[in-house]
Amino acid sequence: MKKHTITAALPYANGPLHLGHLAGAYLPADIYARFLRLQGKDVAFVCGSDEHGAAITIRAKKEGRSPQEIIDTYHFLNKETFEKLGISFDIYHRTSEKLHHETAQEFFRFLNKKGGEFEEKETEQYYDEAYKQFLADRYITGTCPKCGHEEAFGDQCEKCGSALSPTELINPRSTMSGNTPVLKPTTHWYFKLDKHGDELREWIETGKINGVQHHDPESWRKHVLGQCLSWLDSGLQSRAITRDLDWGVPVPAPGAEGKVLYVWFDAPIGYISATKKWALDNGKNWEDYWKGDDVELIHFIGKDNIVFHCIVFPAMLKAHGEFALPVNVPANQFLNLEGRKFSKSKGWVIEQHQYLIDFADFPNKEDALRYALIRTMPENKDGDFKWDEFVALHDNELADNLGNFFNRVLSFIQKYSDGKAPAFDTNLTIKGATEETSSTYSIFCKEQLLPLVEQLENDILAFEFKNAISTVLEISRLGNAMFQSNAPWKTAKENPEAAEIPAVLALGLQIAAVSALCIEPFLPFIAAKMRNFLGLPQAVAGAFERLKTLLNNGEAILPAGSVINEPEVLFAKIQNKKEPRWQELIDLQKTALAELMKKFEEEEKAEAKAEEQKAKATEQTAAKEPIEFDDFAKLELRVGTVESAERIPKKDRLLKLSINLGSETRTIVSGIAEHYAPEDLVGKQVTVVANLKPKKLGGFESHGMILTAETPEGKLFLVQPTEGVANGSVVK
Ligand code: MF3
Ligand code: ZN
Repeated sequence: MKKHTITAALPYANGPLHLGHLAGAYLPADIYARFLRLQGKDVAFVCGSDEHGAAITIRAKKEGRSPQEIIDTYHFLNKETFEKLGISFDIYHRTSEKLHHETAQEFFRFLNKKGGEFEEKETEQYYDEAYKQFLADRYITGTCPKCGHEEAFGDQCEKCGSALSPTELINPRSTMSGNTPVLKPTTHWYFKLDKHGDELREWIETGKINGVQHHDPESWRKHVLGQCLSWLDSGLQSRAITRDLDWGVPVPAPGAEGKVLYVWFDAPIGYISATKKWALDNGKNWEDYWKGDDVELIHFIGKDNIVFHCIVFPAMLKAHGEFALPVNVPANQFLNLEGRKFSKSKGWVIEQHQYLIDFADFPNKEDALRYALIRTMPENKDGDFKWDEFVALHDNELADNLGNFFNRVLSFIQKYSDGKAPAFDTNLTIKGATEETSSTYSIFCKEQLLPLVEQLENDILAFEFKNAISTVLEISRLGNAMFQSNAPWKTAKENPEAAEIPAVLALGLQIAAVSALCIEPFLPFIAAKMRNFLGLPQAVAGAFERLKTLLNNGEAILPAGSVINEPEVLFAKIQNKKEPRWQELIDLQKTALAELMKKFEEEEKAEAKAEEQKAKATEQTAAKEPIEFDDFAKLELRVGTVESAERIPKKDRLLKLSINLGSETRTIVSGIAEHYAPEDLVGKQVTVVANLKPKKLGGFESHGMILTAETPEGKLFLVQPTEGVANGSVVK
């Protein structure tokens, strides 16, 4: 039987996780794993803490604690929080475990011995003389050569996302001492990634391995393929896989004292060691889940981890030779919070464990959160978590649709069917979702319910979780509509003995049971409650397949006579005048964020002002240095006509202009709103710096700049030709 190995990125045990992590990797992975289990598939869903690397040691140093204390604190916090949120890992392992160290070392030894995969190289690397330490990755910061960001790390610029090496940084500084480091020679092991370039390209572009179809590349997300191909296009290079550090997996090779494996070499092997531990504890063979053609390996990650999971780790697995490559890597984009990037350092964050504390006695807090995150899941573009939306989704969809339908059905069963699944005439025709449609129970099951259930299955297997959950809500909506068009409460008044009543109730009950099962991968807590009310056993392996068979045959999930429990309200609304405290809780969260936002806006305003003053000061004082003609000739100045001009909300100084430059029309954002009204500008000619690099201003990309003359009093005037000239004319 096929083995499904599902991994979710091992989070660094250097801090609590936030909702962005949950929506990015863990929740989609959990939905997928739960669904496959419902299908009766053989699943290993593995995760754990990534406990090496500079993320841990730098945090430890900052807090004056040992790395061990840090990883213990956050490993257990994260593990427990995942459990509380219903993330159903089969194991949550740790990379500090002996078994992991051995597994990673074994992997290294194997490749080192194999030959041709690694090379040892001596290079000059930055060294902090005060701390007597080499400075790799996050131990070194400096200015990004690509975007000018001053706090770029030695391995990556977090502003523009470029992968960097420490020697590329401009003005490098040690994060240990703050000093400028010196260069010193050191030897490291490099993995010859370039050697696998062609195989990787074949695998990614065509889905083939050595000419044999492995997966369908069409099933991979476009943004994932895009990132992989742009990496392959820019050329693969040997990558150092060891570091001079004392925290990590020691390099098992002669002459490697004081060196550890690079964290991104050992961490993904953590998936394998986690599987080993789980297999050991559960009487399984870990190799069944990693080797051979019957393995379906899926990595769930955020987009910042794509390269490691689609290029580097697959190359390692391929180099080893026995391992299966991932069949898909459905990476998510990022989730924002109220329109802004999550930022732990700025406090713009909702941490998972904190949410559980803040909403401790809010009923269904886990599923309410899961639902809001699934509905805004950043599958193909960035998503946004908003508290108002959280409330609306909970009240309008979970409470009004799913909860309401379920309750209605169950209270009717109590009222008109003695709390038991009714027996009914299967040949009877009842109304469908509209008054015009009608069918028998079994036709309804087969033609209305089954297609939805199959659509749900297709969506989940295609990693379209947002669509999939809408389908579940579609099922309860259908149930509600069917109930509404049959109006059994009316029939009961007019003719309590009517054969329609038990038939409609039975169909309602069937739909309620279908939704209870189908919602399980997404909202496991509420699903368990629903199944309890229905007297169904908890979700069991293979239940989904049985469900499809029953629907196809028009058979009841709950045979006549099954005892149905008295219902309780599944979701109490947040917007509820009688019980205002839930809305108050939400308002507290919103106020805290609004205050932070105000602070950010003030800071940003002050920053912009300071920058402007600085620029002005340099401009208005002494004449500038003489320049060469060549320097001047670098400017591309052209005349253009303003075609439209508009204000930008909340940006008092900026106007967004459309400028006709003859061969093209450009968007230019200009800081002249205090000097010119938009309507005064339209039709005027201006001088444009046409070859300025695009820049984001006031939320828009500005492609150039218009020239103004500034008087000593600070008044601005457009620089214009004295007579109209053709748009695009060159100024020289
Ligand atoms: N710890 C890394 C991060 O949080 C992810 C590691 S994933 C693994 O970005 F594959 F290396 F395990
Ligand atoms: Zn950068």
